Amino acid sequence: MRIPKSHMNRAGPSQQKPKFYLTTPIYYANSRPHVGSAYTTIVCDAIARYKRMCGYEVAYLTGTDEHGVNIERAAEEAGITPQQLVDTNEKIFRELWKLLGITTTDFIRTTSREHARAVQMLVRRTLERDRVLSPEKRSIYKDKYEGRYCIYDNAYVSDTPEPADCPTCGRPAELIAEENYFFRLSAYQEKLLQLYREKPGFVQPDFRRNEVKSFVEAGLKDVSISRKTIKWGIPWPDDPEHVFYVWYDALASYLSGIGYGSEDPQEQEKFGRFWPADLHMIGKEIIRFHAVYWPAFLMAADLPLPNQIFAHGWLLFEQEKMSKSKGNVAYPEPIVKVLGNDALRYYLLRETVFGQDGNFSREGLITRYNADLANGLGNLASRVLTMVWNYRNGWVPGISEKFRSTPPHDQWFSADVEAAKVRTIGTVRLAYDSFQFALAAEEIWRAIANWGDQFLTATQPWVEAQKPGQEWLVDSWLRLVAETLRSTVILAHPLIPEATLKIWQQLGQEQKLEDIRMDHLRWDAWKQTRPIGKCEPVFPRADKKEAWERMEAMEQEIRNPAGAQPVGTSSAPAGSANNKITIEDFARVEMRVGVVQSAERIPGADKLLKLLVDIGDETRQILAGIALAYAPEDLLGRKVVIVANLAPRKMRGLESNGMLLAASVGPDGKPVLCTFAEEIPPGARVK
Ligand code: MSP
Repeated sequence: MRIPKSHMNRAGPSQQKPKFYLTTPIYYANSRPHVGSAYTTIVCDAIARYKRMCGYEVAYLTGTDEHGVNIERAAEEAGITPQQLVDTNEKIFRELWKLLGITTTDFIRTTSREHARAVQMLVRRTLERDRVLSPEKRSIYKDKYEGRYCIYDNAYVSDTPEPADCPTCGRPAELIAEENYFFRLSAYQEKLLQLYREKPGFVQPDFRRNEVKSFVEAGLKDVSISRKTIKWGIPWPDDPEHVFYVWYDALASYLSGIGYGSEDPQEQEKFGRFWPADLHMIGKEIIRFHAVYWPAFLMAADLPLPNQIFAHGWLLFEQEKMSKSKGNVAYPEPIVKVLGNDALRYYLLRETVFGQDGNFSREGLITRYNADLANGLGNLASRVLTMVWNYRNGWVPGISEKFRSTPPHDQWFSADVEAAKVRTIGTVRLAYDSFQFALAAEEIWRAIANWGDQFLTATQPWVEAQKPGQEWLVDSWLRLVAETLRSTVILAHPLIPEATLKIWQQLGQEQKLEDIRMDHLRWDAWKQTRPIGKCEPVFPRADKKEAWERMEAMEQEIRNPAGAQPVGTSSAPAGSANNKITIEDFARVEMRVGVVQSAERIPGADKLLKLLVDIGDETRQILAGIALAYAPEDLLGRKVVIVANLAPRKMRGLESNGMLLAASVGPDGKPVLCTFAEEIPPGARVK
């Protein structure tokens, strides 16, 4: 299913615009998205908004990857069909993108009919071209496959049957032995190397291109692109015993998402207009599929190649890749609900050097929010708007002639200052063009937002405003600083769209913010058609402790949900829609009696205690969020109930190996530990 193209400009003059087509990877629909998965989508949204502000007609595609063994297994575990599983999770993805204000134009699901048709068409096109070639030259052929395959990362780990662990997740790979359709990747080695040579921008950043090049130079093996043992996939045309292997299926979504294979003339026209993609933005772990397999698949079908594959780094949590299976994830929803959308966007874009790995921390997020958004831009906007409201009835005055010609004020119109303004715009645009969002933000804040604040502090218009005869000065200062605010808002719009729109509305400007062209940006273009709005705070200052705790509480609710939730490989319930579980489901939870041997606080974590709990045949380290309800010394010797077979989870760099059962009481959810009145040995099973 494709979602309406709300942000796509349709026929008419927009046809004259240059086009820009960008994609995120399509996300596995086996669990709910976390901050790591939101990262790429947010990055692409900033690019899409920037490109629109440079006059492009943008097609921006995202979607969900809904086939494969991991989906099949997740559904099995949850006791539902794969279709039910992906239907539930796909909605959660789409709701999140809506919550985050993501301006995608298209959304593709790999279980949609349009997509299946496109995948089959792509392979048919290749088979058609193969027909005139001798068998050893054909790109697709049938053969026996035996090898090790990681079902979690959907990647071949080894082409021999010997046991092997997946290099990405470390889990043992499964043995696969069956007849498959193969793609003759080995025949594309030279063509790929030529591509990297002739078009160095094809794989970016440069160091990634070098990695890919070395990989290809070392020799390419043919890859299997179909499966016989799996049912949950797109059937091979005229050979339905086989379904497509996930990567061939998934990569083709970049074509189907904009109309490839469609019978609808409008969709065909769209494909003609937007393909080839200008940018596939991906995480570094899937670069080989994109920079090696994908161009080869396209070459074999004689379709134009995308312009660029950009592989960014990972968002780390406690120095490890944020991933559901490791249990070290943060979710976007609590952040958005507590600090707002722009806080999350700004933090992710500002904090990481794009392309490199970056760290996520809730403390860092709140600190950044307070420093740059609440005390920075928010404060500047409120100072400017309040003064214009109080001293000039909501109309930003003009710069007086006297100001222009009186030293030292005339310096503001000097060639040096003009050149500095042009330089700032140039630096910011260059940073956006090369996806260096942190640099763009740094420059905007350094040269404009913070400058505006310092200017006000130095000039103190509120002092001069009390003096008769100083109107010329106050007018001019207000105008200078209002234009500073206007420029900040325009340049920062791709980074923090919601707040900049709010401020823009308060500025009473004639043009719509989205219609401003960043490539034609001028500093002194103030055009106000109505009085500025009353100053509404855009970034209220956050109390660190309170914000942290509210986010933590919401995260807990997502992890240990009370109501209907996403389903799949997660902490999500295995139950059906009515939330009932079977006795077998219940029996899978291993609960045991434990005795607390030691308890201590964790520096910097107000709510957590680190406990050592004796459960009979072993002693477990468990981190429990009970520090606000229990003093460590009161817990020694206490009998508790623990869930003993919960997958270990890392918090604050420490492993927690089990969970304490507690009732949650009152509006604050105060924990009250489960315990026993009778004597009972540690390790006894609770059933
Ligand atoms: N379904 C495949 C992609 C097919 S594209 C034709 C897949 N899906 S995924 O759900 O695992 O998503 C992977 C993408 O999510 C990464 O490539 C990256 O863009 C994003 N991220 C997921 N976790 C991330 C981090 N911890 N940090 C940064 N990006 C992350 O692979």
